[in-house]
Parts: sequence; C-alpha cells; structure tokens
Amino acid sequence: MTDRYVVIGNPVGHSKSPWIHAQFARATGQDIDYGRLEAPLDGFDAAVDAFRASGGRGANVTLPFKQAAFRYCAELSPRARAAEAVNTLVLDRAAVFGDNTDGVGLVRDLQANLGCGLEGRRVLLLGAGGAAQGVVQPLLESGVALLVVVNRTAARARALAARFPGVQGGGYELLDSGSYDLVVNATAAGLSGALPTIPPRVFARDALAYDMVYGRETPFLAFAREHGVQVSDGAGMLVEQAAESFLIWRGVRPRTDAVLDALRHG
Ligand code: ATR
Repeated sequence: MTDRYVVIGNPVGHSKSPWIHAQFARATGQDIDYGRLEAPLDGFDAAVDAFRASGGRGANVTLPFKQAAFRYCAELSPRARAAEAVNTLVLDRAAVFGDNTDGVGLVRDLQANLGCGLEGRRVLLLGAGGAAQGVVQPLLESGVALLVVVNRTAARARALAARFPGVQGGGYELLDSGSYDLVVNATAAGLSGALPTIPPRVFARDALAYDMVYGRETPFLAFAREHGVQVSDGAGMLVEQAAESFLIWRGVRPRTDAVLDALRHG
C-alpha cells in the first residue's frame, strides 16, 4: 500500500509541499502519496489523531500549528527541542516523534545554494514567532559572529534571545546602530503586505536580504532591492527543509537542485 503523508496547516491550499514531495518521490523511486490537510484552528490534535489512526505515516506542519505540533509530540529531536517548534511529524512509530528541519533548510539554502558563508557573519533576524524560533540554533551552530533578534513585540524577542547564550533581542529600536551581513525576515509582515520598519543602514556592504516567504516580492525584499542589496526569497529554504523531512521519513536524501529550479521557473 502506498505510504501517506500530508502537510497540515490553515490555510494550506497554496502549499507547494505536495508538489515538492511528489518530485522527490519520483526522483528517488519512493512510493508515497503526499496531500494537504487543513485543520480547524482549534483542531490540530484531533486532525493529526485521525490521520494517524487512518494509517498516515508522517506530516509536515505549517502555519499556525508549529508550536501545537511541538506540544503534541511524545518524543522530540534536539533541534525541535531547541526551537520549541515542530515542522516534521513521524507518525508510524509507537510514540509520535517531532523534528524541526526549517533551520537546517535555511542554513543549507544560504550556504549551498546562495553561496552565502555564515562563519563570522553578523546576522539580524526579524521576528520572534514560530518561523524565527526554528532557525536560531542552526544559525548559531553555523558559526555566525553575532545574532540579533528584533521583533515588533520586544518582549517576545527578548524571551527568544534569552534561551540562547550570546544572542541579543529586543524591539526595532535596537536597529538604531549596527549593520549586518545577512538580514532574515521571519515576520509574517510580508503576507499582509506590511513592512517591518528597518533603516537601510542595517544592510552592510554586500549584505544579503532573505525573506522566508516564497514566491513573491515582499515589501521587505522590494525595500532591500531599492537600496541596492542582494535579495532572496524563501523558495530554497522550502525545498531544503522538505528534503530533510523526506530523509527522516524515507531514509533517502533527494537532490534539490532540479526541484528548486522548477519551483523558481516552472
Ligand atoms: P510564525 O509562526 O510565522 O512566526 P507568529 O508566531 O504568528 O507566526 O509570528 C509572526 C511574526 O511576525 C511575529 O514576530 C510578529 O510580531 P509580533 O510578535 O509583534 O506579533 C511578526 N509580524 C506580523 N506582522 C507584522 C508587521 N506588520 N510588522 C512587523 N512584524 C510583524
């Protein structure tokens, strides 16, 4: 019988994950079926329970359920524990296992696809929600010299930063001084067409502006581009985190280059 997987979110209709995993399955000869599951906002646990009871083997978790997924899991990987958020569920074990592949996806996209070295770099992370939480530890492990987390609700950024030695956190007033080699937008502001208020000075010479949102020019990317800064959307992070989830489920690491190329230009 074909093994079944889903991406769970709300909304989930526009998710590219089913398409990405179908490409991976074809390329690696794995027999899987990967669909979408829209859970009610107050019904994440029940939706996963039902999918698991029907034989579902695993799931990706997207907005707004990554923290709910963290609480749902009986066992967690170290990186999910550090993130306090889960984007990958393994459902075909006695105890539900949760992992977080977002951070490794971002780091791999930056290093392998975009040629953006992280060692010794000064990094600014905008936002302190589920998306930001997932990437702090992997960025630190990649040897960045400085990581500053800035959020509209300053207390949230301070709380996130306090969990990791050496990370600074606070409100947008922290941006009154300093410049950064990499500025990552992990806020949901781009989805609503809003722009977090950042002075162009935050971009160091040869900086990269990266938005975790994919497939659209967000106000953040447009702003960076206007100021002559190199930009990238989150398409590569999406494909790389998917490849890492596929590896966890299937024991095979799919190649990502052709899929990323098709996602960008297809
Ligand atoms: P996610 O899981 O995508 O991170 P979230 O937990 O709801 O979702 O977090 C959304 C993030 O986007 C938060 O950092 C939020 O800031 P607050 O903590 O102050 O709410 C940020 N955000 C959303 N809209 C924003 C806007 N218009 N300007 C700046 N930040 C915004």
